[in-house]
Amino acid sequence: MTDNTYVGAVDQGTTGTRFIVFDHGGRVVANAYEKHEQIYPEPGWVEHDPMEIWENTKQVITQAFGQAGIRPDQLEAIGVTNQRETTVLWDADSGRPVHNAIVWQDRRTTERVEQLEADGQVESIRAKTGLEADAYFSATKAEWLLEEGDPIKMERSRPDDIRDRAERGDVLFGTIDTWLIYNLTGAHVTEVTNASRTMLYNIHDLEWDDDLLAEFSVPREMLPEVRPSSDEETYGTTDPEGFLEAEIPVAGALGDQQAALFGQTCFDAGDAKNTYGTGSFFLLNTGPEAVESDHGLLTTIGFQRSGEPVQYALEGSIFVTGAAIEWLEDVSLIDDPTETAELARSVDSTDGVYVVPAFTGLGAPHWDQRARGTIVGMTRGTRREHIVRATLESIAYQTRDVAEAMEADSGIEMRSLKVDGGAVKNNFLCQLQADILGSAIVRPVVDETTALGSAYAAGLAVGYWNDLEELRRNWQVDREFDPTMDRETADTRYDRWSDAVQCSLGWARD
Ligand code: G3P
Repeated sequence: MTDNTYVGAVDQGTTGTRFIVFDHGGRVVANAYEKHEQIYPEPGWVEHDPMEIWENTKQVITQAFGQAGIRPDQLEAIGVTNQRETTVLWDADSGRPVHNAIVWQDRRTTERVEQLEADGQVESIRAKTGLEADAYFSATKAEWLLEEGDPIKMERSRPDDIRDRAERGDVLFGTIDTWLIYNLTGAHVTEVTNASRTMLYNIHDLEWDDDLLAEFSVPREMLPEVRPSSDEETYGTTDPEGFLEAEIPVAGALGDQQAALFGQTCFDAGDAKNTYGTGSFFLLNTGPEAVESDHGLLTTIGFQRSGEPVQYALEGSIFVTGAAIEWLEDVSLIDDPTETAELARSVDSTDGVYVVPAFTGLGAPHWDQRARGTIVGMTRGTRREHIVRATLESIAYQTRDVAEAMEADSGIEMRSLKVDGGAVKNNFLCQLQADILGSAIVRPVVDETTALGSAYAAGLAVGYWNDLEELRRNWQVDREFDPTMDRETADTRYDRWSDAVQCSLGWARD
């Protein structure tokens, strides 16, 4: 490692793609970002164009080099982190997707999951994968694509042969990490944390599961090889003849929530973080033991380094938090997300209004695919300030829902919580979260912890960083928010929130 070398991280999220260059101190040297289109073909369906995502990835990488004034060959390694579960199928010959990617938020396979429930499959799926059977995960999305994938988009193929070609390994499956690593290096690989979100991977045996592959009719031949999150062998190298004109090892990858856990240096059992992005994802490291949840949380893989055992995590997946702020903008209640703190502060309370942003059903701990967004408690005096405040509060209440489940499952009382993600720039939200939770909220200096986590994974693999201790020393507190609300008020409001959630459950009908 020299002073003028760096590690880069592609952070491919639900709404956009970022490339960040980090130095040895874990500081951001360059940061470029591009949004991509959200495609809603039908109510409840959400798609992305994988080619747009790849084009944006190349663009942000190129932009970041320009910003930092550095050459690609000054990168020691690249890490990848990504929106998880989102599923892509592509033609191995042409490299073209057979269909748009089906996004994690997509609900088109709800009925298929209900059929799994009716068939009594839920328990065995949970035992093998640690997951709650849900349309959220990749398995039913892959099954849908194999049945319904648009053949017109597939070059050189007959309309009816996607499955045949998949069985020959000529159509490939991937989550977004796999899609990007394939385009960057030509290797068809994934890593354990992303595999653990497919509902096709046995998190105890660490293998694609034959029973699940049969259940969802997914041919093994189309699946990527599963590798550690930080891989000393490296997944592959970029093509010196390609857009980077340099041979850089791609050596680390993690699903974005696990990457944030790693970037927040939650390396030990008992360490926890909550990331506030499109949704919020609360992860508690449980060490080499896979802890089963009795309270609606997921058991998932936290990370794995080459030659070391897998570290597991308990996860509370909340589908809509930051996206609820976007919705306020969509319906013109705000012009810009930065207004929300001031508007919320301009009223003392929501005046009894609760917003439950169950736009894509509810994840942890409720797991109701048919829940839908609900506003309750409005009066003739309700103003937009109350609704804006109630929307911000919904983020804090949903986090308390999973924090309570986390404490019940782990027996650990949460004294403080590390937070990250776009929304934690909002001091009002951080204070509100501390108040509702009754725990300190700790915000680090580098809030791009998702990208940082995958940079750490890649940099450790190639020896840019030597050990976890070095990474721990890079982590610094920006600000701590301590609870100030009296517990009785917080608990009373939380009880009313729980009543509001009941109103949203089971709303959607076919
Ligand atoms: O599981 C979905 C999650 O990975 C999406 O994260 O940050 O893109 O909202 P984000």
